[in-house]
Amino acid sequence: MRKITLEQVFEHPITQKYLQRSGIAHAIAVAEYAYIFAKKYNVNTDHATKAALLHDVGHYTWYRDGEWDYELYRENDIHAIKGASRAHKLLIRIGEDRHAAKEIAVAILLHTDSYLPEGELHLKPLQQVVHLADEADEEADGNHHYKKIDQHIALERIRALDIQIDREEKGEKSSKEHV
Ligand SMILES: [Fe+2]
Ligand SMILES: [Fe+2]
Repeated sequence: MRKITLEQVFEHPITQKYLQRSGIAHAIAVAEYAYIFAKKYNVNTDHATKAALLHDVGHYTWYRDGEWDYELYRENDIHAIKGASRAHKLLIRIGEDRHAAKEIAVAILLHTDSYLPEGELHLKPLQQVVHLADEADEEADGNHHYKKIDQHIALERIRALDIQIDREEKGEKSSKEHV
């Protein structure tokens, strides 16, 4: 049984603070995609949706003269590193299982290779799922970071994911009990 729900992660003031920067609508959409990909690739849906929800919490705002400067961002950004560390600290603070917190943090660290030197990364299925989910919601010029969402709708969508994940856990448990 998981210790922490997506709703608990989503509602935390630290999550809210940093998701305002990178876009709540993007975070929710990526969590929903991560759920679908996790089912498809047989990955832990709880870890995948939490990593997806938090994948961009490390973003810094790269503004120059009031406008987002893509070049400045490309050159200096380490949002995956910062996000992994931030998410891990938050998850441990709210009582997440330590192993789950590590899995989620590493998936966030590897959701993009934009900050790494050229080369091949060999991703685990969970990390692949979060990367695919992020890509699925991507829009040109980083527009996915500016999509707006009503806070109530965001919470409804998070709750719907929680219900599906809980149902699944119960289903898995009862199917194991029947073996
Ligand atoms: Fe990202
Ligand atoms: Fe993203």
